[in-house]
Amino acid sequence: TDPATIRNFSIIAHIDHGKSTLADRMLQLTGVVNAREMRAQYLDKMDIERERGITIKSQAVRMPWTHDGRGYVLNMIDTPGHVDFTYEVSRSLEACEGAVLLVDAAQGIEAQTLANLYLALDADLTIIPVLNKIDLPSAQPEKFAAEIASIIGCQPADVLQVSAKTGAGVPELLDAVVAQVPAPTGDAQAPARALIFDSVYDIYRGVVTYVRVVDGELSTRDRIRMMSTGAAHEVLEMGVHSPEPVVCAGLGVGEVGYLITGVKDVRQSRVGDTVTLATRPSAQPLAGYKQPKPMVFAGVYPIDSVDFPQLREALEKLQLNDAALVYEPETSGALGFGFRIGFLGLLHMEIVQERLEREFGLDLISTAPSVNYRVVMEDGSQHRVTNPSEFPEGKIDTVFEPVVRTNILCPAEFIGAVMELCQGRRGEQLGLDYLSEDRVEMRYRLPLGEIVFDFFDALKSRTKGYASLDYEEDGEQPSDMVKVDILLNGEPVDAFSAIVHREKAFGYGSEMASRLRKLIPRQQFEVPIQAAIGARIIARETIRAVRKDVLAKCYGGDISRKRKLLEKQKQGKKRMKMVGRVEVPQEAFVAALTTS
Ligand code: GTP
Repeated sequence: TDPATIRNFSIIAHIDHGKSTLADRMLQLTGVVNAREMRAQYLDKMDIERERGITIKSQAVRMPWTHDGRGYVLNMIDTPGHVDFTYEVSRSLEACEGAVLLVDAAQGIEAQTLANLYLALDADLTIIPVLNKIDLPSAQPEKFAAEIASIIGCQPADVLQVSAKTGAGVPELLDAVVAQVPAPTGDAQAPARALIFDSVYDIYRGVVTYVRVVDGELSTRDRIRMMSTGAAHEVLEMGVHSPEPVVCAGLGVGEVGYLITGVKDVRQSRVGDTVTLATRPSAQPLAGYKQPKPMVFAGVYPIDSVDFPQLREALEKLQLNDAALVYEPETSGALGFGFRIGFLGLLHMEIVQERLEREFGLDLISTAPSVNYRVVMEDGSQHRVTNPSEFPEGKIDTVFEPVVRTNILCPAEFIGAVMELCQGRRGEQLGLDYLSEDRVEMRYRLPLGEIVFDFFDALKSRTKGYASLDYEEDGEQPSDMVKVDILLNGEPVDAFSAIVHREKAFGYGSEMASRLRKLIPRQQFEVPIQAAIGARIIARETIRAVRKDVLAKCYGGDISRKRKLLEKQKQGKKRMKMVGRVEVPQEAFVAALTTS
């Protein structure tokens, strides 16, 4: 294909602003999917995506479009919308020359609209601003066109208005893509370079790698090389999605498509990596490749310990499709055998847990999420700590914790509530801007560890659901962090240890102690539950002793009833865990970790 007739673009939008619906309409209008085949959210392939209405994996679709009597090829590259997948978003934007900035005409700009807009501007993309859902009676196109215009620096009249639902304005939008988005440029004679912007594991075809060719050409049967690892593979199949796969012989400058080499694991085909030819390699990879970096860690355990091998198998399978997933085995006195799993962020964590439970039928319990601390000892040695049980004993000089920059967008009436929340989470305010007369953007620097504990929920409840939030890494800061242990009759219960700020240690300790007091049954002797920092006790609760004689009730009663009771008690014991001398039903641990 002549690069002059190619347009590569993405749609960037906040969740629910209508990206998938707009994509569906484009597929229909360009004729690649007819009305009969059309089903809502055609491109969101995974069930879990469809159910939650979120897009996790990006994909590319090729669509023909005629403008001014000339035929063009439009490649629409789908981006995941959520903050946890920022890196994937930025790589898919790198594969484009333009972006459609889609904003709900009844909602206005939200945090992820802005976050993605900044990424698109970083990638030097041409931005086409569009208001969606203009069919809604509650739409306020004038107001929000002005808001968008002031942010991207255009005229309100330049903001297109569409309804992805009815299709109104969508042909004009496709014309604007052709007219405004630059054609790709690249050197057709140079050694081949293609950017991997996504890779997906398919049980029938192995890993399907999505690429955007920048220079040169890639063809079937070529031996290709991944520039970050040096690994070489033969291309078994190349093609484009339109939206079903269509095999082709090769892809040239500016083209977007997929290739299959027979590798079985997406980690061999990393997002952001550069593909070149093994026979005539390029000297210089495309810029910006990063390994995905886990930011949030949690212990994940099967509720029934016999499920441990299934959990291991499920994780191995998930990893084939999720290069960001990392894990290692872990043992807990309270919860048994499980895994410490690293996630990109909270949504990633939720998605992985949900997939493990749903696709693999596992019942799981996870410990409170933790972040990656750097502990510097007085003797100068350093430790990376992602698990409270690894928190070093001995003389600690400084603990560094990861921090993030957050953007919070909300109606102006909630400014006070949001400030109070962020201050309570050790936030430092960086700025506040009015986007329009009644909506503000607030910027805070916050410890990531404070966000992983229920920050989203707290923000939503304080703003009646009207706030949106986005964050990006912003280095680390020294903080007064301590490890709080929860002791049962003097024995630490590992699953409940946490690394928290010293000022919050008492709150955490007394909360956990009181939860456990309510959940652990009385024993034959008095059991103290204590929260401690090192040897220092900071909170205490007591479970009073009881003399539990199950047979007392059946005084002189019939023997079969006695036997039944004894039988029942024996069964109950199977799911008991011993912490020192204290017998605890596994459910108590599970309940203490899940109530909040
Ligand atoms: P994510 O995939 O979660 O990012 O969401 P999305 O941006 O793809 O939104 P989606 O297309 O799922 O649309 C969200 C909701 O808005 C759905 O209920 C759509 O039916 C509805 N919607 C999308 N476009 C329009 C529109 O033009 N008018 C009206 N009235 N509703 C729309």
